[in-house]
Amino acid sequence: EAELYDEYKGVYVPNHLHPPESLKYYEDFTFRPDDVLIVTYPKSGTTWLQEIIPLIFSAGDLTPVRTVPNWDRVPWLEEHRAVLLNLEQRPSPRAFATHFHHYMMNESYFKVKPKVIYVMRNPKDVFTSSFHYYAMASYMVNPGTADEFMEKFLSGKIMFGSWFDHVKGWLNAKDQEHIFYVAYEELIQDLKGSVSRIGQFLGKSLSPEVIEKIAENCLFKNMRQNKMSNYSLVPEEFMDQKKSEFLRKGVVGDWKNLFTEAQTERFDAVYKDKMKDVKFKFAWD
Ligand code: PPS
Repeated sequence: EAELYDEYKGVYVPNHLHPPESLKYYEDFTFRPDDVLIVTYPKSGTTWLQEIIPLIFSAGDLTPVRTVPNWDRVPWLEEHRAVLLNLEQRPSPRAFATHFHHYMMNESYFKVKPKVIYVMRNPKDVFTSSFHYYAMASYMVNPGTADEFMEKFLSGKIMFGSWFDHVKGWLNAKDQEHIFYVAYEELIQDLKGSVSRIGQFLGKSLSPEVIEKIAENCLFKNMRQNKMSNYSLVPEEFMDQKKSEFLRKGVVGDWKNLFTEAQTERFDAVYKDKMKDVKFKFAWD
């Protein structure tokens, strides 16, 4: 942990992606009211929204997602690349991503209240996706066995800390009129409806033809072919996609192929305890 991760505001961040100067850059970053910020705990649907949002902005014109890699098209504000991209000069509306917890957001965020799309996913599937990702990315600490990784996941000793704290923090955010909550499971179940609702939230009314075109492009099988979205541009020394592809399975419930009965019980018990005060009706419950 010591070498690959730094601790920042109470959570681990992989320092290959988030050196101190980029975290500082984010602290000083100035939002605009029409910025759109995709907020996720890692492995919850970030890449998917990095495809959907630009296509809503472009009204279905595929140029942005065919010509610009997802990480420059919708950059993470805490990532090293943000510093290089001249984001201050980008025309509105700008789109960004972040894995930050609510309490980690900067001063400008709380003042300006940009539009937020908060994407959440069944934590068992987040766990499963993370387990494979930690094993294929060289800047992440090796996950060890599923049992070992589960204890780290449940206690938040992994990148960006506890899933439970992340979700609870964002669900308890004040001023929720600028936040749109959506579940990965809803996108799977009704992609067109979800695209339309996200569009409405962003003040864009999209024709049925445009919605159809966006949804088609954003299907897992199609995004997987898009080299601007499937991480094939990342050198193998950082991501070994022979071990596990970044766009790996793209389904709901793959945890069932990984968890033993004992692991399911353990996970459910912790989930029940940590989420006992949460009233929100989750798509996966
Ligand atoms: S990251 O590293 O935080 O940016 O990862 P993130 O993009 O949030 O999560 C990766 C998982 O999302 C799946 N994914 C999709 N599923 C369905 N349809 C589409 N279009 C899609 N795009 C990305 C991706 O496959 C990862 O989940 P798993 O379960 O590992 O397949």
